[in-house]
Amino acid sequence: MDINKVFATIHAGLPAKNTGKVADYIPELGKVDPDKFGVQATTVDGREYAFGEAKEPFSIQSIAKVFTLTMAYQRLNKELWKRVGVEPSGTPFNSLIQLEADQGIPRNPMINAGALVVCDVLLDYLKDPKAELLSFVRSLSSDKSINYNKAVAQSELDNASRNRALLEYMRSFGNIHNESDDILDFYCHLCALEMCCGQLSRSFLFLANQGIAPLSGERIVSSSMTKRLNAIMQLCGFYDEAGEFSFRVGLPGKSGVGGGIVALLPGDYCITVWSPPLNYKGNSHHGMAFLEQFTTEVGESIF
Ligand code: DON
Repeated sequence: MDINKVFATIHAGLPAKNTGKVADYIPELGKVDPDKFGVQATTVDGREYAFGEAKEPFSIQSIAKVFTLTMAYQRLNKELWKRVGVEPSGTPFNSLIQLEADQGIPRNPMINAGALVVCDVLLDYLKDPKAELLSFVRSLSSDKSINYNKAVAQSELDNASRNRALLEYMRSFGNIHNESDDILDFYCHLCALEMCCGQLSRSFLFLANQGIAPLSGERIVSSSMTKRLNAIMQLCGFYDEAGEFSFRVGLPGKSGVGGGIVALLPGDYCITVWSPPLNYKGNSHHGMAFLEQFTTEVGESIF
């Protein structure tokens, strides 16, 4: 099957009018061109297929939470699950509602509350969190050009009241240990990582390859931990739209409010699509539609 041709055909069939809306609650994100579109798939044996602006970096936002979750899991293993759960939330990514019922233990590490706890954990283990995170991501994608967009990080820091509220609420239950300013600085830089579809597809390949990064041959996590990380993406990667993503696409994946979606078929490939306008749940409108048609066209999903 000519995957490049499949990409072009699916893109041509997407609705001309995108009913999604570019995220602007982080002002810098609101500056992106809504018509941008890129997609790249990379297989575990190194084949690459791309279409559109697949080499243009974008703000990966919550997609980056998978990197910090992996780093924390490497260091704490099952101890991590005393601080954050593994259940789907069924609420928006920045919701506080569930925290009271769950005594300050976030439902899962993909919602903002969970990702903030993971950042708090890493501040206890890393001497220079931002530098070590960057080094980890550059190593996964074998690309030293990856960096933070400082303007996006600052733009979020200047508008961080919701995440600060999550932190202080969890602190009241004893589940936050470090200073909120330090956690938010790390978290906002994490979310401000800029990568293109190609770099993202390569960096997530270890999750499609039993925990081994194909480019370097390095074991990142065990195959058992890989299973668990993919399960968390499947059940929690799209928040209160995780069911819809599984129903329509049928792959483990993670979205970000920059308009990116990464998904993977274990043992086969990782695919990243980028289309900035978001649906009302905060996930890329055309990205979801594209991936739904792709897994249907190639006839492969985890189900
Ligand atoms: O904390 C926030 O609101 C953003 N930095 C990330 C949210 C996000 O990407 C949600 N995913 N769709």
